[in-house]
Amino acid sequence: MNKTILILALATAVAAGSACSGGGNGSKVGSDAAIEKRIDRILSGMTLTEKIGQMNQVSVGGSDEMMADAIRNGSVGSILNEVDPLKINEMQRIAVEESRLGIPLIVGRDVIHGFKTVFPIPLGIAATFDPGLAEEGARIAALEATACGVRWTFSPMLDIARDPRWGRIAEGSGEDPYLNSRMAVAMVRGYQGHTLDNTSMAACMKHFAGYGAAEGGRDYNSTNIPERLLRNIYLPAFKAAVDAGVMTVMTSFNDNDGIPSTGNSHILKDILRDEWGFDGFVVTDWNSMGEMISHGFAADRKEAAMVAANEGVDMDMMTFGFISHLEELVKEGKVKESVIDNAVRNILRVKILLGLFEQPYVDADAAEAACYTTAALEAARKTAEESVILLKNDGVLPLTGVRKVLVTGPLADAPHDQLGTWAFDGEKGRTVTPLAALRESGLDVVYVPGLAFSRDKSIDFSAVKAAARGVDAILAFVGEEAILSGEAHSLSDINLIGSQSELLKALRETGKPVVATVMAGRPLTVERDLGNVDALLYAFHPGTMGGPALARIILGEAEPGGRTPVTFLRTVGQVPMYYNHNMTGRPYNGETLLEGIGLEAGQTSLGNTSYYLDSGAQPLFPFGYGLTYTTFEYGNVVLDKDVYDADGVIEVSYDITNTGERKGTAVVQVYVRDLVGSIARPVKELKHFERVHLAAGEKKTMTARIPVSELAFWGRDMTFNVEPGEFTMWVGGNSASGIPVGFRVR
Ligand code: GLC
Repeated sequence: MNKTILILALATAVAAGSACSGGGNGSKVGSDAAIEKRIDRILSGMTLTEKIGQMNQVSVGGSDEMMADAIRNGSVGSILNEVDPLKINEMQRIAVEESRLGIPLIVGRDVIHGFKTVFPIPLGIAATFDPGLAEEGARIAALEATACGVRWTFSPMLDIARDPRWGRIAEGSGEDPYLNSRMAVAMVRGYQGHTLDNTSMAACMKHFAGYGAAEGGRDYNSTNIPERLLRNIYLPAFKAAVDAGVMTVMTSFNDNDGIPSTGNSHILKDILRDEWGFDGFVVTDWNSMGEMISHGFAADRKEAAMVAANEGVDMDMMTFGFISHLEELVKEGKVKESVIDNAVRNILRVKILLGLFEQPYVDADAAEAACYTTAALEAARKTAEESVILLKNDGVLPLTGVRKVLVTGPLADAPHDQLGTWAFDGEKGRTVTPLAALRESGLDVVYVPGLAFSRDKSIDFSAVKAAARGVDAILAFVGEEAILSGEAHSLSDINLIGSQSELLKALRETGKPVVATVMAGRPLTVERDLGNVDALLYAFHPGTMGGPALARIILGEAEPGGRTPVTFLRTVGQVPMYYNHNMTGRPYNGETLLEGIGLEAGQTSLGNTSYYLDSGAQPLFPFGYGLTYTTFEYGNVVLDKDVYDADGVIEVSYDITNTGERKGTAVVQVYVRDLVGSIARPVKELKHFERVHLAAGEKKTMTARIPVSELAFWGRDMTFNVEPGEFTMWVGGNSASGIPVGFRVR
């Protein structure tokens, strides 16, 4: 069949279907019989070489001419890291008009927390406990990125993280499976849209699976997660994303119990495909196929390609294993052509659903106007405000009756660092820093940075001290440069780096009120700094509009809306410490700490429970914690029944009162403990949260509805059930407080 006729045939074929959004025939990604027929027709016209070309993803950055040739001869199915709409259109034109089959490319990019308009890093978005806002931000990111021709993002990152030494704790939604699951659904819906159209950007849940449990918090390190823990803690958010229709999955770098995820059909087939019914496509992480050689799991690239294909990988990111060896492997009978066909089906299904065959090009002239819109910047600012956590306030905030302030610290005017990790496309020139925003606020601002960057070790604070003499208050912005956060940026010491703590101490010695803001990609250990500040705000790298958000919060025009999405430790030696831990046989019950041990202690026992002599058993700040500019009281927690059936719904009503003088937003959290199970169960698990706005003095009676099925877990016999028995539920403002009520499941 000559080329023109073939393209016409394809065009006719693809026109027959529609980029549908409904999930016909049980498809999770929204396919239906018409689309499956289109795929059959396209596949039937493909050579083995062309099929394998669809399974090959290539990053731009090499020779444009070589890339053009590869696209033209059908060796590339996807590109990543191009964001210029003109260049994307040209590469699409070659694919659609110059290759034999005219199959469009799918263009991928790490759009992790915004594209041009940068939102707070995902850990900050999680701190909002506001899935609606997270979805809005993802939708804005999709509008900006798809306008430039990017139709696939390698987000959301759903790795549960319990170790702040791991730099990539910045990219996920923290330590809790329920919060991660709610954020996962929100971001998939935001990126892909509730109905598929040309603003839909295929989401990619990553890194599948267990990557956040890297031993020692050292990135890329091995994980050792037993199946039951994997299913109860590390997989729920991924399952939620699949149920929400996520179109792609990325395999993780880690080996779990010796098996690299890129070669692990138990997670890629048994769980992802057979149990969950996922029918999008699986891409490797960057060269994670090739890294199976380094793992000692494959002898060479050919074997790595064979393992990846047979274990469930559909697309190869930057190993060139498929394009180099798959054809040979098929001819040698080591990989069946049906495996290739299945992979290509999955890839074509996503390309068809995105409408790429009908609309492969973008209007390059409209791209710029689609970015940095007022609505996008407003949403970024609102998200930043809701992400900022107030950890300490001796009454100095909100700042009132102040005319002149000293602004200091290495993050007061650091537009690049403020964006945080994985903010490739955010222009630092568009970042509004706290210094710029405070100068706009009408305050008389004196700016003396004191330190040039977060790692700066200089201790000459004479200029800062001199400037402090003439001001009413000091606003210090400290934390982490963006480069210290994110991939491959693990730290073994998570105190404020450089001489930032010394700067805060110097500020304390001035006798002026000190308001410190930490901007970081992880929960740093700030206990030693608390005594040197009158108030502490924590902003996980807050993005483009972090400055206005912080200025408005400091001045009382907005409230600090965030709650801790991860536990804040007293010292890094407490790792791992997280709220949903098991009780153990000897829970801490207040034994003697180091300072209480007399010199005559001798060999007497100091206690036989699970704690540290030098730092106890409690963190500095628990999960779900955050102060506000008012106070809330909870009461009258009442369950609609005492006993529930496994298929029932728990209705818990409670009163919440704003007992302060300012309006405010509470983040109400409902935790549950299964008192006795076929396995030891966590002391608490988050099962519901909502943001409740209350005027000063206002009282509301609220009702939360929690399906009993939410209490199911993988038990001793490795089945997923709600086990009958006694439960306790807490309703309150964080994981360490709340009013308990009991109930039973029969
Ligand atoms: C990186 C990251 C992954 C990212 C990919 C493409 O190594 O692990 O999260 O999406 O490569 O940039």
